[in-house]
Amino acid sequence: MQSDFLQIQNLSITLSGNQVIKDMSFNVRRNTLTTFLGPSGSGKTTVLRAIAGLNTSVSGQILLDGQEIQSQSANQRHIGMVFQSYALFPNMTIFDNVAYGLRVQKKSAAVIQQEVTAMLQTVGLTAKRDAYPDQLSGGQKQRVAIARAMVLRPKLLLLDEPLSALDAKIRVSLREQIREYQQKLGITMLFVTHDQGEAMAISDDIVVMNAGCVQQQGSPMTIYTQPTNDFMAQFIGNHNLLTGQQLQQLGVAPTTHHALASTEHYVVRPELLSPEPQPGAVAIPGKITAVTMLGDRVRYQFLSDADLPLKVELLNHNTPLAVDATMTLYLDPAMIHLVGAAHVK
Ligand SMILES: Nc1ncnc2c1ncn2[C@@H]1O[C@H](COP(=O)(O)OP(=O)(O)OP(=O)(O)O)[C@@H](O)[C@H]1O
Ligand SMILES: [Mg+2]
Repeated sequence: MQSDFLQIQNLSITLSGNQVIKDMSFNVRRNTLTTFLGPSGSGKTTVLRAIAGLNTSVSGQILLDGQEIQSQSANQRHIGMVFQSYALFPNMTIFDNVAYGLRVQKKSAAVIQQEVTAMLQTVGLTAKRDAYPDQLSGGQKQRVAIARAMVLRPKLLLLDEPLSALDAKIRVSLREQIREYQQKLGITMLFVTHDQGEAMAISDDIVVMNAGCVQQQGSPMTIYTQPTNDFMAQFIGNHNLLTGQQLQQLGVAPTTHHALASTEHYVVRPELLSPEPQPGAVAIPGKITAVTMLGDRVRYQFLSDADLPLKVELLNHNTPLAVDATMTLYLDPAMIHLVGAAHVK
């Protein structure tokens, strides 16, 4: 099992008299890519800045490789940071941008030549070594920014929404490349995003935060299938959140695992409601009230005859149902998930 390389314990941060981070604890395992996922304003950048040593009023512990780093300056921490805005030096070539940190460290010309050449090759920009930043596309510029951080071999690389300024197609290809660099070079990365799909696609672990608190930490699979509270159930994957009583109204019977009490909250994932009858499944008759084309799938708003709205997602088989079409959905009671805690404070 990989050890916890970065340990954040009881972190609290106050900015201008405002407690922005509230007693947060989470871990990042060595040589993994952990994403830090949360809505805008939840405190992601603030935590990253604290880890990098750029925030002042910070309480709690930050341990990197077993060592407390709070007393160290930003320079002493050997932590790299990549920002949303590439922040390249406009008057330097791509080679010189990547070489900059090594020159500050007074590395020899031969070492710089070798390291920068290898890094430009890793990020696929060898042909652009003599170009200037304004001659590059957004995706290429961000690859330079990542190369500039990685060439210093940081103990930890922090990336703050590095893809959000790029268009959708480049974003998907660059996120896969970042994952590849991370695995190939064995770097521990903490990657901030507010895009769930991005987090699901590239992470070993996801830390979800909201309003300065960690809501849940786990693998993408665990985060998606076993949300621990209502915030998680609603934030991840557009799930249906129902009380036990509402499930009983739909015809689901209580079991030894699921008491279906009115105070309990359950998640029913939209893709697990099926139009096909299944053994043991509960039949839910109703009608379609809204249709959204997603491309490979179609998302429906469905209103059951028991007057409960449900979100449903079905594969696009070329004949989407229309608004007001009646249909019966089938729910396998074994697929419902009891939410860990009923309410987010
Ligand atoms: N200098 C400051 N003084 C007071 N409050 C601040 C300061 N900087 C940020 N905040 C507040 O701290 C909270 C967290 O901000 P932060 O920038 O960390 O959020 P974020 O999760 O990175 O958001 P985004 O996804 O929009 O980048 C916000 O409510 C913000 O208004
Ligand atoms: Mg931010």
